[in-house]
Amino acid sequence: MLILGIETSCDETGLALYDSEHGLIDHVLHSQTDIHKDYGGVVPELASRDHIRKISPLTKLILANNQKKLTDLQGIAYTSGPGLMGALLIGATFAKTLALSLQIPSLSINHMEAHLLAPMMEKKPPPFPFVALLVSGGHTQIVNVKALGEYELMGESVDDAAGEAFDKTAKILGLGYPGGPQIAAAASAARQKLSSGAPARFRFPRPMTDRPGLNLSFSGLKTFAQNTIKECGTLSDKDIEDISLAFEDAVVETLKIKCERALKETGIDHLVIAGGVSANQHLRKYLENELSATIYYASPEFCTDNGAMIAHAGALRMSGQKQERDLSLEIKTTPRWNIEALHNFTESI
Ligand code: KG4
Ligand code: ZN
Repeated sequence: MLILGIETSCDETGLALYDSEHGLIDHVLHSQTDIHKDYGGVVPELASRDHIRKISPLTKLILANNQKKLTDLQGIAYTSGPGLMGALLIGATFAKTLALSLQIPSLSINHMEAHLLAPMMEKKPPPFPFVALLVSGGHTQIVNVKALGEYELMGESVDDAAGEAFDKTAKILGLGYPGGPQIAAAASAARQKLSSGAPARFRFPRPMTDRPGLNLSFSGLKTFAQNTIKECGTLSDKDIEDISLAFEDAVVETLKIKCERALKETGIDHLVIAGGVSANQHLRKYLENELSATIYYASPEFCTDNGAMIAHAGALRMSGQKQERDLSLEIKTTPRWNIEALHNFTESI
């Protein structure tokens, strides 16, 4: 089954072609970073306008690049949530209209589920069941993944998501948007300069690790960074690197402690990390070194938002046992969409 995947939940327009038997054919991505960077975050209306401009040309491009025609498509998978309402509406309207005109099935995809399944596109896919650490710009969740569509939310951030904390801390350090990769680069520079075994200059707290349970909190780290910055006065490059290191270490160790608990609680020894922050090299290495579980992640281009993960999730659901399809005429968007609700999803479409 040849599936077109469409991602427009936030600030990336992503299109992909996925063959349910042979895997990913190709994907194209347009990032809106340049549009939003001056504002230090995503401006929803500007995001929607840019998706409108890009979605049709990118669809034509990916078809042409792969010698395919619209009539070769056999299904369309699109992100219908969670995300920005206006941005989601562009992808959903485009997908449903195209599917109706081509008389092929479409399916709405949960963006977080697509992130969580993305490591299954790799050569060594994780087997079910596994624990998933979802760390993106909007969500931080620990999920017990029992099977496709069977997700138990074990814990989540009670305030800022991990990626959001990276972005906010980067902003107060005067680094660009999105902040994750910039903090990671500054932290890596500091780590290289630190002689082995020497303590880092600053130590940030590991929030909520002294309490039982799997919930997380990251907003306090931004405040801690703010206070440290005040103490430094005018920030030098070394200050920025040392604060980035302390921040990254705190996030990564906190995530490790919570994942360790989740693995112990479930008795599972496979851990998937997914979402934009799973591109973080230190997080990957630290979890691999510190946990006895096998760690799985997608290649960096499929950690952050992309169309391939949507097409892949669509392929699993549309060509799977249940042959899921969204047959209604409704243009459905779900800006808030709990991953646990996917259990009864087929029945509701
Ligand atoms: O999954 P994603 O592309 O979008 C959402 O669904 O939210 O995640 C974007 C987030 C941003 O907050 C970005 O700063 C963060 O992922 N990110 C990183 C890295 N690359 C992206 N955070 C830490 N280290 C990275 N290397
Ligand atoms: Zn995402």
